[in-house]
Amino acid sequence: MAGYADLWTRSIDDPESFWLDAADAITWDHAPDRALDEAGETWRWFPEGTLNVAANALDRHVDAGRGETIALAYDSAMTGTKKTYSYAQLRDRVADFAGALVGLGVEPGDRVLLYLPMTPEAVIAMLACARIGAVHSVVFGGFAATELSVRIQDAAPKVLVTASGGLEPGRVVEYLPMVQKAVEAVPGVVSHVIVRDREAVPGDASSLVIEGTEVHDWDDLVAASEPAAPVAVDSSHPLYVLYTSGTTGSPKGIIRDSGGYAVALAWAMRHIYDIGPGDTMFTASDVGWVVGHSFIVYGPLLAGATTVLYEGKPIGTPDAGAFWRIVAEYGVKTMFTAPTALRAIRRVDPDLEDLSPHDLSSLETLFLAGERLDPETWHWANDGLRVPIVDHWWQTETGWPICAIPRGVEHLPGKAGSTAVPMPGYAVTILDSKGREVSQPEKEGNIALRLPLPPGTLAGIWGSPERFRDSYLAAFPGYYATGDAGYIDRDGYVFVMGRTDDVINVAGHRLSTGSLEGVLTMHSAVAECAVIGVADELKGQRAAGFVTLKAHEQIDPETLERELVALVREHIGPVAAFRDVIVLDRLPKTRSGKILRKTMRQIADGEAYKIPATIEDPTVLDALADTLRARERANVS
Ligand code: COA
Ligand code: AMP
Repeated sequence: MAGYADLWTRSIDDPESFWLDAADAITWDHAPDRALDEAGETWRWFPEGTLNVAANALDRHVDAGRGETIALAYDSAMTGTKKTYSYAQLRDRVADFAGALVGLGVEPGDRVLLYLPMTPEAVIAMLACARIGAVHSVVFGGFAATELSVRIQDAAPKVLVTASGGLEPGRVVEYLPMVQKAVEAVPGVVSHVIVRDREAVPGDASSLVIEGTEVHDWDDLVAASEPAAPVAVDSSHPLYVLYTSGTTGSPKGIIRDSGGYAVALAWAMRHIYDIGPGDTMFTASDVGWVVGHSFIVYGPLLAGATTVLYEGKPIGTPDAGAFWRIVAEYGVKTMFTAPTALRAIRRVDPDLEDLSPHDLSSLETLFLAGERLDPETWHWANDGLRVPIVDHWWQTETGWPICAIPRGVEHLPGKAGSTAVPMPGYAVTILDSKGREVSQPEKEGNIALRLPLPPGTLAGIWGSPERFRDSYLAAFPGYYATGDAGYIDRDGYVFVMGRTDDVINVAGHRLSTGSLEGVLTMHSAVAECAVIGVADELKGQRAAGFVTLKAHEQIDPETLERELVALVREHIGPVAAFRDVIVLDRLPKTRSGKILRKTMRQIADGEAYKIPATIEDPTVLDALADTLRARERANVS
């Protein structure tokens, strides 16, 4: 096989032949005879191809005689349940549930919203949608009713599939009251709700009553339905819409196509993650995130491998050896998690004592992504686990890694702080603020990707082609703006340093400060607010809310803090992990009224900062620094 450099160069110089070759890894109903259809700022991959992604993920392996291979190993540290599904069993479960959806009138292109915990039903429901050409949209269980209703409003799903709830350490998360609130908030959209009854959580289909919506029990519905066969769809047919945070408060529905995604994932599994039939991959994330879509569900199954679906945390369920137990028990070859999880393990088990009972000899590589991996944690993991640690970088939008070490191609060395080298089809470029290419190594700028993007990347924003252009293509004509800043070193290694917009990353979860600000201003005492991401030792960043009060407002700061924290939990959800409220007399602003968020963050993080020339009143910055110092003293004592 060619080395990395040759592969990458070929992908850029001759994308047509590179990706047509890669498309051979997929079984097409109608094979594409060309790869790229490009016109100006729009492009499609494998335009004439038709396929079914679920059939590629399941039926194909059964037809090839591997029906008895374990496709899915479910391990719940929350309930102690362990269950495996062979490819044949999973295919049958998926066909059954697909039939149930068809019975409710779901047709190709219809949206189905999935609000499910980390149980096999989440995987089954996703693949069932794919089997019949329906478009799934998974909403992470840590989002509350308002976020759910925003997604219902935007995606207009005919059916919503849910469960009685999720399990978090020390508490159950009842989904049904949230589903009721969210569906009722957007009347006339959701015709059917399917409820998977979970013994460990109160509530079932009979306890959910929503006017104008039929509620079904999962098992009853499946029992009354016939299995459905896979439906071939066009390569550009949307497989799913996954919402992610943008600069504004309203989330963006990232559209993923079918053919391009299947080809890109098949390539990534083999060449980046070095996973093929018979191998086991453990991705410790959640099906509600892109990492879960690509590397818990679609990627490993397209590869004919075994995927581990783990319901639990890296620590406390029951200890910091939870991940290592999974690796040993399932013979995991490739593992993937977020840096926060490693930092959490390191905090409670710095010497990796909880690792010793477990045999990690099957593990060949640990991949990390979702947020910046600090060099200290990189070294700690490299030394302690004695397997290569690959920090790799990508986004919900791209669906698969932009930069990584392609372990199935070449064992390139890693570098602490770097997300390694560009993957095929990604022409990673550093641009200055005027959009000029920065060719000097190690000079920081905006990280942009030259168009067209490779297969598997976003096909648009649901319902809004203008927002797609405005968000990603308008800033630097001819390029996709990643929203990340960073640099490329002399060896071509990419260093991703942080966002250039108002997106923050809390424990690998992407949040919009705009939507948090929207919630804080709902409080009757709040006049103005600014939410910024401040450095957090465990979670990378955490959201801090700076508020000013309306004139003559008497509320005491503790009550206000409690109420604002509750408000964020109610409207966005516990995932925001919002705890810090700082009351100020005034917010620092420019003379034109723009809040100086960057300077505020620098002060909060104790970094050196320059007083912006356009500042309205520099003394406001001193007052901010004093308030933060006083708060820190109070926290220490
Ligand atoms: N459903 C409902 N609530 C959820 C949830 C879910 N699926 N996931 C998280 N939450 C809740 C948590 O229970 C917590 O609630 P609390 O405020 O009542 O304690 C809150 O959201 C914040 O959760 P989290 O950020 O996960 O913090 P934590 O303190 O519970 O756990 C870690 C800390 C490090 C163990 C955890 O953040 C972790 O596992 N991180 C890895 C991140 C990851 O995999 N990211 C995926 C991107 S690749
Ligand atoms: P998400 O869309 O939730 O996957 O978040 C994508 C964002 O997370 C990226 O734009 C980066 O800001 C950040 N990110 C993801 N992986 C990395 C990484 N390995 N290093 C630094 N930042 C990362």
